[in-house]
Amino acid sequence: MHSFFHPTSPQAHVVTTLWWWMFGVGGAVWLIVVIAMLYAARAHRGERGDDGLLHVSESTYHAMERTVIGAGVVTVVILLAFLAYDFSVGEALAQHPDRALTIDLTGHQWWWEATYEDPDPSKRITTANEIHVPVGRPVQIKLRSADVIHGFWVPNLNGKRDLIPGYVSSQWFTADTAGTYRGQCAEFCGLQHANMALYIIAEPAAKFDAWLAASRTTAPLPTNSATRFGEQVFLTANCAVCHSIAGTPAMATVGPNLTHVASRRSIAAGTLANNRANLMGWIVDPQAFKPGTLMPKSTMQPAELQALVAYLETLK
Ligand code: CUA
Repeated sequence: MHSFFHPTSPQAHVVTTLWWWMFGVGGAVWLIVVIAMLYAARAHRGERGDDGLLHVSESTYHAMERTVIGAGVVTVVILLAFLAYDFSVGEALAQHPDRALTIDLTGHQWWWEATYEDPDPSKRITTANEIHVPVGRPVQIKLRSADVIHGFWVPNLNGKRDLIPGYVSSQWFTADTAGTYRGQCAEFCGLQHANMALYIIAEPAAKFDAWLAASRTTAPLPTNSATRFGEQVFLTANCAVCHSIAGTPAMATVGPNLTHVASRRSIAAGTLANNRANLMGWIVDPQAFKPGTLMPKSTMQPAELQALVAYLETLK
């Protein structure tokens, strides 16, 4: 789901309510102005004098003057009321719950790297483009950028927040309904800006804890000759230069961490569904799907590709 109209966190609720008030009051003002304009265009007031201009009586003139001043005052009052309301919403969004789950989110051209913080470094996990969070628990997303300015925006959960190189910003939300919420980079960041999506998967606490525990495990060892060969291909072809798989010597952090890649629903930051055909196509020629991506074309043999994908599919 990717919709501002279905808020699923208290933070998104206050933003949506503010928006509906602004829409309602703004719409009513527009309607009143249009009706007044039509009325003024049709009303016949005053007499045309010898000079060719319209002349109104003293009392009509004062009535018109009062109307204009009154409308000006009402406008200022409405704008000030919205200013105060807007500040109060900003204040509500800036509340920092103490016991938040903290996720470090780094924007890259053009994907998202998510690291779950933990005081115990061995319990930290890193994943990409799909972020699991527990329902009902405050989540702090710490936003950084590895290259250019990106924008974090998951409309169901909160407003937009930019990721600025060299600066850490933060956003908080508490998902109150389980579901999968689509997010989108909201700041133009180059050729594949539109293909920079992410998913927030809000699930009940027990399910989330199970996911977290599974994510902390290293990748399963290959169990047959095909997947063993696939692992070898991964480690000796170019893959390991950029990607890491926990439990293997591959520890590079240029591209997404692939330790549990098979458990993700999409690849290439929401660009392709995660299935065998897409994985193969993506590995062979990423530029065909996402021109400009840092991942280069592959030169591996079909048998190597088959084995590599068979191995990647075991990384649940
Ligand atoms: Cu990243 Cu637009």
